Amino acid sequence: MSVFEGLQYQEPDEFNDIRKKLSEDSNCRKIDVSAGVYRDENGKPYLLKAISQAEDILHDAKRDHDYNFCLGIPEFLNAAATIALGEKLVKEKKVASCQTIGGTGACHLGATLLSSFCNFRKFYIGTPAWPNYFPLIKQAGGEVIKYNYYNSEKKEVDFTSILNALESAPRNSIFILQLCCHNPTGTDLSQEQWDILTSKMKQKEIVPFVDGAYQGLASGDLEKDALPIQNMISKDMEFLFCQSFSKSLGLYGERVGCLHVVTSDAKKAEIVADSLRFIFRSECSSAPAFGALLTSSISKNPNLRAQWKEDLEGISHRLQQVRRDVHYFLTEKYKTPGNWDHVLTQKGLFWFSGLTREQSKTLIDNLHVYLPLNGRVNVAGLNKKNTEEFCTLIDYVVRNVN
Ligand SMILES: Cc1ncc(COP(=O)(O)O)c(C=O)c1O
Repeated sequence: MSVFEGLQYQEPDEFNDIRKKLSEDSNCRKIDVSAGVYRDENGKPYLLKAISQAEDILHDAKRDHDYNFCLGIPEFLNAAATIALGEKLVKEKKVASCQTIGGTGACHLGATLLSSFCNFRKFYIGTPAWPNYFPLIKQAGGEVIKYNYYNSEKKEVDFTSILNALESAPRNSIFILQLCCHNPTGTDLSQEQWDILTSKMKQKEIVPFVDGAYQGLASGDLEKDALPIQNMISKDMEFLFCQSFSKSLGLYGERVGCLHVVTSDAKKAEIVADSLRFIFRSECSSAPAFGALLTSSISKNPNLRAQWKEDLEGISHRLQQVRRDVHYFLTEKYKTPGNWDHVLTQKGLFWFSGLTREQSKTLIDNLHVYLPLNGRVNVAGLNKKNTEEFCTLIDYVVRNVN
């Protein structure tokens, strides 16, 4: 009898399976619009110029490889908090920050803090959502309550449904909201909608849990994308912000993230930081240094900051150009049945195309186009060489598959 007798297979990971199929497909014209990663005009992973320059500086500095503090590298924490929340709040010391293993680690740490240490367990999640929230909240001891985030007919945020969920939520519930470039719908709350929601949350004593995995990719401007955060700060709200530098600095594999807990005063921030230290010590002891040092060295160097700004603007402009190209081919050149305006209005990496499961499946199984079955397209996988072909294949499935 084995210790592992009772183990059952867990829910498969769709992206793992797509990745496997993709690697087994030898067709040189295959198109990958699946995972949420940025690709350059040549379809390759993109090394930001700011990162490349920071790597040179770090290499010359000949650093050691000692352990870091449980909460993280102090200069990284300061840089990360300033990027997310602004200088004023950081100076007031109303924030407890802990370096994490990417944005996923920040979400998990935040959920653990609320659920196991503060006894706040009800997590409201608008669907469709980033699929990892569900197991992550469950493992942290939370309970998930779903509501509808997206109106697929109108291709816009289902604001009535969000307000209804908020209305019915008991005090001390938690609302997970994505800051921008919503995964998977590419459809974000407007500033007015944020303002209404945050006022209601404050009034009802509901905790905002904001996931900022794509800060900087919506507008190309880190501060502009973080306006909803400033809205909550202006209302003196307590909230959590889960930060990731995977997308905004292209540091996917380096696992650079940070959890920021904004509290009503400096004394509370101190005790929250102590709890974060305690949790992180038992889970990971301390987070990896390399990507965090790159991030802080960019943040403190005005030239590298300017380069990062340029890099982000370049990414954001390319994504918008791809969206315009897709729109042109589908509407003007191929006159594909349907309305495709949402490819222009949605933001960031994702276009929630509205293709059916069968249409997506046909693209994967027969046409060498790889995407999740919910029809989410990562537009960064498209470029001048493959966009037209991609659109002809979309046109084909729209006309021939239900
Ligand atoms: C909405 C959302 N949140 C969090 C993350 C986690 O990011 P990271 O790769 O930094 O763990 C992702 C990654 O794709 C995401 O899409």
